[in-house]
Amino acid sequence: MKKILAFGASSSKASINQQFAIYVARQIKEAEVIEVDLNDYEMPIYSVDRQRENGIHPLALSFKELLKSCDGLVISFAEHNGAYSTAFKNIFDWISRIDKNVWEEKPMLILSTAPGSRGGATVFGIAHAKFTRMNPNTVKGVSLPFFHKNFSKEVGVLDTELAEVLKGSIHDFEHMLTDQVG
Ligand SMILES: Cc1cc2nc3c(=O)[nH]c(=O)nc-3n(C[C@H](O)[C@H](O)[C@H](O)COP(=O)(O)O)c2cc1C
Repeated sequence: MKKILAFGASSSKASINQQFAIYVARQIKEAEVIEVDLNDYEMPIYSVDRQRENGIHPLALSFKELLKSCDGLVISFAEHNGAYSTAFKNIFDWISRIDKNVWEEKPMLILSTAPGSRGGATVFGIAHAKFTRMNPNTVKGVSLPFFHKNFSKEVGVLDTELAEVLKGSIHDFEHMLTDQVG
């Protein structure tokens, strides 16, 4: 069984990205899904001064340990003003100061969704570009528009074209997981 961390890059208790990430992670064959809530990793806003004074925040170290313990990640990005949510960006900033291999080169499936017509396409593009540069094991998923119309808990993605694209991404991600050594 592969251990997959799944989370919406959001701090909303009713996060649609959390729902989407967990749904997608559950489609992965022979995988145990660990649902991560970013609220469990809420820290003061990263600053070089804080780091100098107090070192790396213990929750950043815990998050990093969690990353090390998994075989892959499924992340669905909430778009806040055309960018990452602050909750995600803050964790990213903190863990980026621990070591250079920030995401441990774990296979990572990138998604986004939003209630509107663009489905978080801007943050999806930002995340995909960034993670592809940082981590050779990044898989492009889908950016799902009109979440409330295009998603059902029972069926998943209702837009047939996007559902096909997602199926292909999950397939690529499964291959990447099995190709991992160790
Ligand atoms: C502060 C804030 C900024 C937002 N900015 C955008 C945006 O730039 N583009 C967008 O499509 N939706 C935007 N939204 C709407 C989010 O897409 C919507 O709240 C969505 O549910 C967020 O995902 P989540 O439910 O996983 O947190 C914004 C919402 C908030 C609270």
